[in-house]
Amino acid sequence: MQKLIIEGGTPLFGEINTQGSKNAVLPVLAACVLCEGQVFLKNCPCISDRYAAARILSALGAKTHSEQGMMSADCQSITSCEIGMGLMKAMRSSIIFMGALLGRMGECTLCYPGGCNLGPRPIDMHIAAMKKMGVQISDEHGFISCKAPDGLKGCTHSLSFPSVGATENIMLAAVCAEGETVISNAAREPEICCLGDFLRACGAKIIGDGGGRIVIEGVGRLMPPSEPFEIIPDRIAAATYLSAAACAGGELLIRNCTPVHLEAVIPVFEQMGCRIKVFGSNIYIYKKGRLSSADTIRTMVYPGFPTDVQAIVMAPLCTAQGTTVFVENIFENRYRHADALCRMGADIRAEGKVAVVTGVPGLYGTIAEAPDLRGGAAILCAALGAEGVTELSGVSFIDRGYENIEGVLSSAGAKISRITEE
Ligand code: UD1
Repeated sequence: MQKLIIEGGTPLFGEINTQGSKNAVLPVLAACVLCEGQVFLKNCPCISDRYAAARILSALGAKTHSEQGMMSADCQSITSCEIGMGLMKAMRSSIIFMGALLGRMGECTLCYPGGCNLGPRPIDMHIAAMKKMGVQISDEHGFISCKAPDGLKGCTHSLSFPSVGATENIMLAAVCAEGETVISNAAREPEICCLGDFLRACGAKIIGDGGGRIVIEGVGRLMPPSEPFEIIPDRIAAATYLSAAACAGGELLIRNCTPVHLEAVIPVFEQMGCRIKVFGSNIYIYKKGRLSSADTIRTMVYPGFPTDVQAIVMAPLCTAQGTTVFVENIFENRYRHADALCRMGADIRAEGKVAVVTGVPGLYGTIAEAPDLRGGAAILCAALGAEGVTELSGVSFIDRGYENIEGVLSSAGAKISRITEE
């Protein structure tokens, strides 16, 4: 078992380069299934979810190669359309292979995906959308068998909620389907646009991604992009390093992070009293003295405040002067980090969708376990600003989304190390 040992109280100084986006690279890797030839990707984050996606591709028969930020995937040799339970359970995004495999093979067998426990995470919208496109689906003993005997047919989908995963699955199924597909009330997250950019670079006909209405005209086949395709920067990782600086104090420059993707997040750090400056694709943050509370934080679909950043900004707000109210509107069970933060001395009352955080003068180190990916990152940020040592287990959650987090933070002066225990 691995643990992170964090000695708090050391301010951060220096520059951090933003890793490639976890939530963008995973659907792009699924999209490689549709390409006839070898795809090259750059700025891929070195995180365990990327390697889990590569294992899925290999199990399907594809040839993949990873070297730091570069990755190639050649899916011409794919023979299988089944993804086993172990691979499906490794991450939530495994479900995105459904649309891609149906587009490529006209059938697939998989099971319910894993991922962080954030409360119920149904896939009913994904299933309903595939059925509407001509897919026959049977769900027995947890295995979902999908078959499109007459191929996939374009149609109009009006989503009851702008689900990121369902929008991606429909896009993947539609790019090679017969006729036109329209997704109304589509998700507008930057990762949707990254998938749209990738698919267009492969020859797909898509317009409207980034708006609420995406129109896709099916094409016969997709070819790899002529140049390596670049994955967008990870807005959630950038927000995490802003929070790390807000907790520990100091001065950081977060490089190459597309600040426009953080328009709902940056004002919260400004309300806390951090000095923030945006220079092109970089964000500078300076924090000294005690933070202030922020206006009510309500998680929303993009461009609203991201649910993935809720836990992460809660960490600095635990020691702010005043009270901050959180309303989590996307997931039902997303305050599982609050327990550990309270054991560090925080005053958090969470019930249902709402958490009330009353700032205390300081936190102290503890023994904690990451409850999920972003909750783990929140505890880590809090530990950087706490007095004493925190021993954080459950590191595999953090490794799902952050590239070498202890190396990145150490380079900015944090006292953090990874140990392996029997
Ligand atoms: C969500 C986040 C995404 C984040 C990711 C990882 C939103 C809108 N989505 O994406 O930004 O990066 O988690 O943490 O913030 N739902 C259904 N039925 C479905 C699909 C979804 O009821 O078939 C519900 C979910 O339970 C949830 C909401 O819709 O309440 C958002 O789901 P969705 O966007 O699909 O989740 P992810 O794709 O996992």
